[in-house]
Amino acid sequence: MIDLQLLDKKHDESRQGEALVLDAPTGNASRKLYIESYGCQMNFADSEIVASILLDQGFETTGDYKEADAIFINTCSIRENAEQRVRNRLSQFGVEKRRNPKLIVGVLGCMAERLKSKFLEEEKLVDVVVGPDAYRDLPQLISQVEDGQKAINVLLSREETYADIAPVRLNGNGITAFISIMRGCDNMCSFCVVPFTRGRERSRDPFSILAEAQDLHDKGYKEVTLLGQNVDSYKWKGGDESETAAVAVNFAQLLEKVALISPELRVRFSTSHPKDITDEVLYTIAKYDNICNNIHLPVQSGSTRMLELMNRTYTKEWYMNRVDAIRRIIPGCAISTDIIAGFCTETEEDHQETLAMMDYVDYDFAFTFSYSERPGTLAARKLPDDIPEEVKKRRLTEILLRQQESSYKRLQENVGKTIRILVEGKSKKSDADYCGRNDQNAMIVFPATAEIQPGQYVNVYIERCTSATLLGKIAD
Ligand code: 5AD
Ligand code: SF4
Repeated sequence: MIDLQLLDKKHDESRQGEALVLDAPTGNASRKLYIESYGCQMNFADSEIVASILLDQGFETTGDYKEADAIFINTCSIRENAEQRVRNRLSQFGVEKRRNPKLIVGVLGCMAERLKSKFLEEEKLVDVVVGPDAYRDLPQLISQVEDGQKAINVLLSREETYADIAPVRLNGNGITAFISIMRGCDNMCSFCVVPFTRGRERSRDPFSILAEAQDLHDKGYKEVTLLGQNVDSYKWKGGDESETAAVAVNFAQLLEKVALISPELRVRFSTSHPKDITDEVLYTIAKYDNICNNIHLPVQSGSTRMLELMNRTYTKEWYMNRVDAIRRIIPGCAISTDIIAGFCTETEEDHQETLAMMDYVDYDFAFTFSYSERPGTLAARKLPDDIPEEVKKRRLTEILLRQQESSYKRLQENVGKTIRILVEGKSKKSDADYCGRNDQNAMIVFPATAEIQPGQYVNVYIERCTSATLLGKIAD
């Protein structure tokens, strides 16, 4: 039953580097934009802001970079291989650029921020480099390039949240959408480059978040995912809009306000931080049926010594206590996580503690990584990257295998039951099947029938499962 092919699949791996296009072309555009995104969900949400800004400049999207007037690549720096992937892609775009010297090639996002002007020196075919807080400057930067210059803006901001820019939905299914509720990160985990590439944490005003969620609901969307590097520290200090609304809002309160838009609108969120997730958030999830029972709670390691070196600011016992609270307050809640194998000085005992933590929590899903040293981070400056590659790899495989057992066990609990799911569309593997997710974020595949449309909630009887998917049929 164990399918080794699935071991390495990240949930959104299939979206990496995919061309992002509008469902309906505007029709009156004069220039074609090709945009692709790498990395986290936040980057995908940012690409929708970028597209919104560029559509206002007379661009329309294309799924074929060979016919584009401008190519933008929204990049990720989280691990070295993410950066390598982008460089490989840039050399492919370079072939096109040599053929068509008027083509504009732009680099957006975390790599742009990390490498700054070095990018223009290293990658001669890149014309424009734009950091995550500078997308409003794109029209001006593009005209600079059209005047024959290279252009760069990598200024980070303490305020920018793009609150007033309505994202255009790219590659949308018209059913599920992301809403970015905050930007940046103040946590300074020692392995992580994000605080350097995305800057200081800031929360977007709740009025524009609610307006965006309401607008999606009005357009027929059935699920929103609230995004932030650390949603539990969402904090709106009050002010703006009307006097009555000008009170402070924390994450639990924001979650409740979004949930109240409609019981038919599902609400998800990511990412939670073990040090910040409160019982108030857990009680809010328990209170509303439409807030999904699925918490992404990255543990990183099960060893307190490692957690300290990682500057995660919690202990193994603290994390277990948070898991106990989730199990107590929201029975049946799915918990997923991120785990890093082979961080600096990790011993075999530390690694065993991570496996023991996995046994304790029995995660529904885990994103697992081998430690990759990132220049400029606290770990790169202070700690030795001393675990040999083959040891990292072996520990990672042990973690993956342990996770696969857990995922399978969790999914197996659904077999023989009827569960409610939101139909998202045709299954990737077959047009004869639909797919959708349950409250816990498990993927369900079942034979399509004429009466059922994407966007509907349906009851599916689960017949069997693999370690990644539930398979069933429509219940009568
Ligand atoms: N090496 C490996 N994994 C990392 N992550 C962040 N930085 C690194 C790194 N330098 C992982 C963490 C984080 C997830 C988004 O990526 O697990 O939670
Ligand atoms: Fe990186 Fe830690 Fe912030 Fe997550 S919480 S983005 S791992 S610094």
